Amino acid sequence: MFPTRLSKHPAEIIVALDEPSLNDARRLMDRLENRPRFYKVGLQLFTASGAAAVEAVKARGAKVFLDLKLHDIPNTVASAVASARELGVDLCTIHLCGGTEMAAAAVEAAGEEMMILGVTVLTSSTIEGQEVCGIHGSIGEQVMRLARLGHKVGVRGFVASALELPMLRKELGDESLFVIPGVRPAGSALGDQKRVATPADVVLAGATHLVIGRPISRAEEPVKAYLRILAEAEAARGGKLV
Ligand code: C5P
Repeated sequence: MFPTRLSKHPAEIIVALDEPSLNDARRLMDRLENRPRFYKVGLQLFTASGAAAVEAVKARGAKVFLDLKLHDIPNTVASAVASARELGVDLCTIHLCGGTEMAAAAVEAAGEEMMILGVTVLTSSTIEGQEVCGIHGSIGEQVMRLARLGHKVGVRGFVASALELPMLRKELGDESLFVIPGVRPAGSALGDQKRVATPADVVLAGATHLVIGRPISRAEEPVKAYLRILAEAEAARGGKLV
């Protein structure tokens, strides 16, 4: 079920390369002394430097989480997923509100080598914001509705907040990857994140991947911050992470 280069256990730390240019991203990876084995390339860096950002990460032997949150007609999403797969991307996000056909097309295009992650409801969304879009019910209900839709057509990875993790795990179980952003080591700045959890909390709740940006990238010594977070997560798990 899982592409062989994507372990479900143990959990992995993904460092977000939320940088304005490829040079900045390279500088951050240099400062991290190539310790992290997984990086996230998101909208900012991909818009600035495109496929070169993915290639720069792969050139260091690390895995790539391409977080473009695709949402378009099924054929267009499938084509973009196929392009990501060609580049050697390991994880790629789609918006599950794009619907069943779109999610199924993405899963098929990803094949065996790449894994599709479904985004349910953005953590920036509120009930009021959803209602304006005609979506009724609680955020939790909408998260589960979309997660089930994705799961039915083969999506086996989900981006979720630490708050949603327990209910997603309970229903979608051991078979899926759970990739959790909004992680803050005790005592670190929250930035614009409102609902956060510590690395230990998230690992204990069953995350398979932790996405961490500013607590590492904006630290005075990113490599030390990375190693501290890794140690905290490993201690919670009682074993080594990768
Ligand atoms: O700097 P920070 O640790 O907050 O970065 C978290 C990363 O995870 C960012 O790249 C952000 O875009 C991403 N993310 C998030 N919340 C979501 C989905 C993705 O913070 N719900």
